[in-house]
Amino acid sequence: MTTIPAPTALTTNRRVNPIGIDSTIPEFGWQSESGQAQSGYEIEVFADNGTAVWLSGFIAGTEPFGVAYRGESLVSRQRYIWRVRVTLEGGEQSVWSRSATFETGILDASEWSALWVTDSDPEPQKTLRSLYFRAETELRGDVRRARAYASALGWYKLFINGTDVTGDALVPRFTPFDDYVEYQAYDVTDLLKSGSNILAAAVGDGRFRGRNGYKSTGVIYGDRLALIVQIHVEFTDGTEAVLSTDRNWVVGGGPILTADPKTGERVDLRISTTDWLQPGGAPINATPVRQLPAHRRVLVAEELERVTLVSTRRGTISRTPSGVQIVDFGQNFSGIARIRLKGYSGQSVRLSYGEVLTPQGEFDEHYLDFPTKTKEWFQRDEVTLPAGSVDYTPWFTFKGFRYLAVQPAEGDVVIEDVQGLVYTSDIAAAAQFETSDPRLNQLWSNIEWSLRSNFLDVPMDCPTRERSGYTGDLQVFGKTAAVMVDSDNYIRRFLRNLEADQYEDGGVPAYAPREWSDFRREREPLRNWGPVTGWGDATTILPMVLHEYYGDIEVLRRQYASARAWVEYLREFAATKKGLVRRFGHRFGVHEKYIVDHGRQVGEWLRPGTNIITESIATMIRPPAEVATAYLAYSAKLLSAMAELIGNGPDVKRFEAIATEVRAAYRAAFVRSSGRRIGADMQDDYVRALAFDLLAPHERAGALGRLVELVQKADYHLGTGFLSTPMLLPVLCDNGRPDIAYRLLMQTTVPSWLAEVDMGATTVWETWEGYKKNGNAFMSHNHYAFGSVASWLVEYVLGIRPLEAGYRRILFAPTPGGGLARAAGSVTTPYGQASSNWSIDDGVVSLNVTVPNGTSAEVRLGDGTAHEVGAGDHQFTWPVNAVLTRV
Ligand code: BGC
Repeated sequence: MTTIPAPTALTTNRRVNPIGIDSTIPEFGWQSESGQAQSGYEIEVFADNGTAVWLSGFIAGTEPFGVAYRGESLVSRQRYIWRVRVTLEGGEQSVWSRSATFETGILDASEWSALWVTDSDPEPQKTLRSLYFRAETELRGDVRRARAYASALGWYKLFINGTDVTGDALVPRFTPFDDYVEYQAYDVTDLLKSGSNILAAAVGDGRFRGRNGYKSTGVIYGDRLALIVQIHVEFTDGTEAVLSTDRNWVVGGGPILTADPKTGERVDLRISTTDWLQPGGAPINATPVRQLPAHRRVLVAEELERVTLVSTRRGTISRTPSGVQIVDFGQNFSGIARIRLKGYSGQSVRLSYGEVLTPQGEFDEHYLDFPTKTKEWFQRDEVTLPAGSVDYTPWFTFKGFRYLAVQPAEGDVVIEDVQGLVYTSDIAAAAQFETSDPRLNQLWSNIEWSLRSNFLDVPMDCPTRERSGYTGDLQVFGKTAAVMVDSDNYIRRFLRNLEADQYEDGGVPAYAPREWSDFRREREPLRNWGPVTGWGDATTILPMVLHEYYGDIEVLRRQYASARAWVEYLREFAATKKGLVRRFGHRFGVHEKYIVDHGRQVGEWLRPGTNIITESIATMIRPPAEVATAYLAYSAKLLSAMAELIGNGPDVKRFEAIATEVRAAYRAAFVRSSGRRIGADMQDDYVRALAFDLLAPHERAGALGRLVELVQKADYHLGTGFLSTPMLLPVLCDNGRPDIAYRLLMQTTVPSWLAEVDMGATTVWETWEGYKKNGNAFMSHNHYAFGSVASWLVEYVLGIRPLEAGYRRILFAPTPGGGLARAAGSVTTPYGQASSNWSIDDGVVSLNVTVPNGTSAEVRLGDGTAHEVGAGDHQFTWPVNAVLTRV
């Protein structure tokens, strides 16, 4: 009998050996080492003391992921060990895998005995000072195991006996802080000792008190920074102790005077950064802590990798024509800089971070629209130097930048050393892409950098100006993120935040967290942004993306209520609110109540050449009904599919019926001339109608024809904005025009992807133009929305697509074209890596594909043939086809 190899790559909640999880039904995953598909599995889970808590026996199931724990109730702060063996379709069984572990955090709120502690500043709103907490405490006995659970209102850095426990991470994440804040779990076994121990933490504003959003509003969630730490210690003799924040802690100041994530730190480096951590040390002006007044927020465990330092970059130092010292890191990114400066004691130096230079080569402080209320450049740290050389690395801020300007208030300062520190949520890369055309490779790199820069904490619109979790931006980019990085947990977290911040009537804020709180008491300025279609539809679109790419069914169950509330809200909105056009004139009879033409809609958003001020006014006066109605039809259809997947029969019918009605209303109101005239007759009107399947079969050819005509009229330039750009090239390919898709991709004048590349972009820009006619930069230079073309590069150029949820069946349908001689790359599916690699030589296309274990694939070739294949490597060739020669 042959031995079937053991499964590998075991994960719990899609993470490797996580500690501090608070889900009581963790989900297990693994990868099969055998080509044959899995028909079932057996899992064993043991508590740390060896007691079995789940012996699953054989369970039938083909998916090696999303397997829910069904054993005895899990206990807080316990380490569990598990293993798996699989049965293959042929009936053979593998050997047991190696063991993996997971560890629970604090599962019951009543187990938090630590106090939330703060200071007694009478006017924290005015001083905004950073806090340094400290306690000295005795332990008796040899430590066998110790875990620290910690969090803050603000960002914190925890130290035990002088060791930085938090490291480079920016924690806790930005969540709806009225409802919950995440805590971190740390293994601190080696840091505590018998005798006296020094516990300390510094806290800066973070996303809790720091400035957020387009108005740079600060003090949104509260004015008091606070800390909570609870350390559970087990001694070798079996006894236990708990050390926690209590009234014995003191709080005071330190070198970081104030720290805002956006406007930066004010730091006095003449104050020692380490003395307060030493025996006998203390924060400056230390006083006893005060307990934070009672509040309703709860502590929840982290569900994904932290925001942290992932790589470093060297920069080149030069002087601008006006004499300012500039460091150019050669790449736009999110993070901070570590710098060694030499000046005189008391000299103050301003470090400004920005993405672009002016045409004259100066640091540009004016290219972004809404910086702070004061219109001052906002990405800045200000440090006061001691005598001699000093190293400065900010603790509690991040910036979006390529350039760093170093400006002393007076005199000169020597930059002895400088490094760029790249920050992002540390989630794994999943896709690779490379072609014979270096410009496309640069485009891919730019998209990766924009993804990484903005997947910092919440998925942001940009790392500079707003830094907000815009729902629409992730709606359009979610699929690309799912292809490019391991983003299931990351997007789940976003959806959880969104749901917590969803309005009671089902309306969805333009961004999540919604940057508003009970603490503000005033009325939320953006409350009327409830019905923004294309943005609120993140509720229906993103869970379905996670299902399609990760086979994630659980997220559908979790997000269903939120998605349903959104669709019902929009439907109700259409039925009860009429826009101006319908009030004065047009009537659509039975279709009337399915047209969305009211409310704050932003429409397609940022088509080439858009002036956002006039566009915003126009959409306010006349909300783009074609866009809004299309999204209601699409979301209702998605919701019906979602209901089907989670077994909610009545809703399948209800939302299918709504989708059908809205589709009919859409056609009655916006489709003319057999599909040759839709809405405002812009490219995006046709893209949406085709992509969302809103047309009758006989209208599709007309719509496609008109779309191609519009592209040709624009001399093969795209005319789409945020919402339709991701669908433009797929729609063209799916309807038999890859030649047009490639012409758009390879276009090198504005607006196009390669125009940005040719202009030297290292990230993706917010607008298609990036620069004004006078050469000055304009709007953000790091927005991922237009980078959504990366999923097309993978799914059409390489041709790797899921045919069944989670890539259980995979389609390989590469589309050679665009003059490319070769393209190669891969995606990491939940089953393992799928790759596609093609090249053209002598009029023949050669293709190599790798199909991961446990999956099967259909390979569609350019000669019109299709081939069924199983796991493993496969080669094909075919003559360059007719479509290609037209490109
Ligand atoms: C943001 C966008 C966002 C939009 C919505 C902008 O300021 O940067 O990415 O989706 O506003 O109106």
